[in-house]
Amino acid sequence: MEGVYISEHPLVKHKLTLLRDKSTDSTQFRQLVNELASLLCYEATQDLAIAPRTVETPMGKAQGSTLAESIGLVPILRAGLGMVDGFWTMVPGAEVWHIGLYRDENTLRPVQYYNKLPVEPRVQVCLILDPMLATGGSAIATVDLLREWGAKRIKFVGLIAAPEGVKALHDAHPDVSIHVGAVDEHLNDIGYIVPGLGDAGDRQFGTA
Ligand code: PRP
Ligand code: URA
Repeated sequence: MEGVYISEHPLVKHKLTLLRDKSTDSTQFRQLVNELASLLCYEATQDLAIAPRTVETPMGKAQGSTLAESIGLVPILRAGLGMVDGFWTMVPGAEVWHIGLYRDENTLRPVQYYNKLPVEPRVQVCLILDPMLATGGSAIATVDLLREWGAKRIKFVGLIAAPEGVKALHDAHPDVSIHVGAVDEHLNDIGYIVPGLGDAGDRQFGTA
């Protein structure tokens, strides 16, 4: 599917396997989410624009590059929060705008409870962060919000996706690239990714 990128990086595969393991505790889980976020940030930012920049080294002039696009990180609460530090390690200048959504247990539709977007977009690239892309409802609702608000270039970055969620997000917003660590088998009848990792928010925050 065009615009869908599934990581092939050995470190991503290794760390995702540890993350899925039900014996991984919350402390280790948070650390792995953080590390995976940095690795996926590297992959999702490969097409950022750069501009020439010259600096003085102790030995003379070096013709180098500087990022020419400003970046906004949009973590979907709660679980997306755990990905922010991993992205900040790579892109320390990024702004962070929080969106709060939870899935209604019965309808599986996203319910918005928080929106910290500034009045107008002031960055060129928005990276939506959420470990799980299940039905795709939360990601689609967030892209809808960002679009209404005026964001032009949007990418979704997640750790594990269901094929149903990838298709739904791609069908709703074909111009939003999707970067994930893995695409799993299917969704079960209560909207959980199989084999997935369980509830990403609960496992991070110890609230299972
Ligand atoms: C999880 C996850 C996504 C959403 C994915 O959040 O972090 O935001 O479900 O499901 P979807 O693709 O079907 O919308 P959840 O609603 O459990 O909230 P939480 O992060 O606060 O636990
Ligand atoms: N949200 C999660 O945290 N896990 C899933 O498998 C699906 C949605």
